[in-house]
Amino acid sequence: MEIQENYSLQPYNTFGIDAMARYFVALNSTEQMAEFLRLSNYQKLEKFILGGGSNILLTKNFEGVVLKNNIKGIHVVHEDDDVYHVRAGAGENWHQLVMHCIDHGYAGIENLSLIPGNVGASPMQNIGAYGVEIKDVFVALEALNMHTGEVETFHRCDCEFGYRESVFKRQLKGQYIITSVTLQLHKTPQFNTSYGAIEQELENMGVTELSIRNISQAVINIRSSKLPDPNKIGNSGSFFKNPVVDANLFKKVQAAFPDVAAYPAGEGKMKIAAGWLIEQAGWKGKTFNNYGVHKKQALVLVNYGGAAGKDIFQLSSDIRQSVAEKFGVTLEREVNIL
Ligand code: EPU
Repeated sequence: MEIQENYSLQPYNTFGIDAMARYFVALNSTEQMAEFLRLSNYQKLEKFILGGGSNILLTKNFEGVVLKNNIKGIHVVHEDDDVYHVRAGAGENWHQLVMHCIDHGYAGIENLSLIPGNVGASPMQNIGAYGVEIKDVFVALEALNMHTGEVETFHRCDCEFGYRESVFKRQLKGQYIITSVTLQLHKTPQFNTSYGAIEQELENMGVTELSIRNISQAVINIRSSKLPDPNKIGNSGSFFKNPVVDANLFKKVQAAFPDVAAYPAGEGKMKIAAGWLIEQAGWKGKTFNNYGVHKKQALVLVNYGGAAGKDIFQLSSDIRQSVAEKFGVTLEREVNIL
């Protein structure tokens, strides 16, 4: 393994922010990771596990060690009449995993096409889109305990999945390196077109017979039309979560703004579209020098080239403040700030 010093993270974050890591090491196997963690020179330093870099905003240089998780491999580890269990290395690109599954007829993650990032991060924030979340197909993950150096298995009930949440973002934050994820995928697809935009797009595409490939293509078309391609414009997808508010607060917002975009979120709660709140607060498309709010989806902050992470962070604070003042609703960041 090669340990780099004062290493630019620009190619490793989809926001395209130029910040340095004091140390950087790419690790290709669980054994290599355990070996690195045993090296005494680096034990006291702060560590950051980097996957696809699609959910981070770098606001300064990182003074510790960045561990790039490069564990690869996609294998069927169990098969019966109905399902496949597919295990993927944490360093696999998520969308390539989705495409692999579609090519092989493994159904269940087609709605999650084109989500940026790597497999290892997918359960951490319970990625979701178009009516499906990874928790719906999740079987288990393996993770290296950074204190003991042992590999542990976490099943679905251990992960405490919620909307863009898991135990790995809360109690266990910074304690484990996810090394593989196993998903249960179906031989007979159970199509999920509940999200209106998918049905509309399938119609536009002239689809008469549903297939996992058609649904994937519909999702790809919708995402590409709204969300900026990180290879062209730096971004980290939705910068904020959609806030879940109680019925009283929702009634107040709705009384003042009858066309508020929102969905029931269980137990008298409502999930309000953060993109709608941010747009109504006047931020959609706003540009400041080389960064701003995306023109087509107000939930996405963008780096047009050369922006500083701290400026984008300040923009996100200004947006939070103005949404809180206008609607009394607090936005929570989805992106990890470093
Ligand atoms: N809206 C606006 N203005 C905007 C953006 C959205 O009014 O600028 C309104 C839309 O008109 C719609 C509602 O907000 O009524 C919802 O918009 P959309 O369907 O685009 O979805 P979203 O709630 O903004 C969430 C996820 C996305 C995921 C889509 C589709 C979060 C934080 N974001 O966005 O996930 O792709 O649903 O399922 O939950 C991500 O996490 O990075 C991400 C892109």
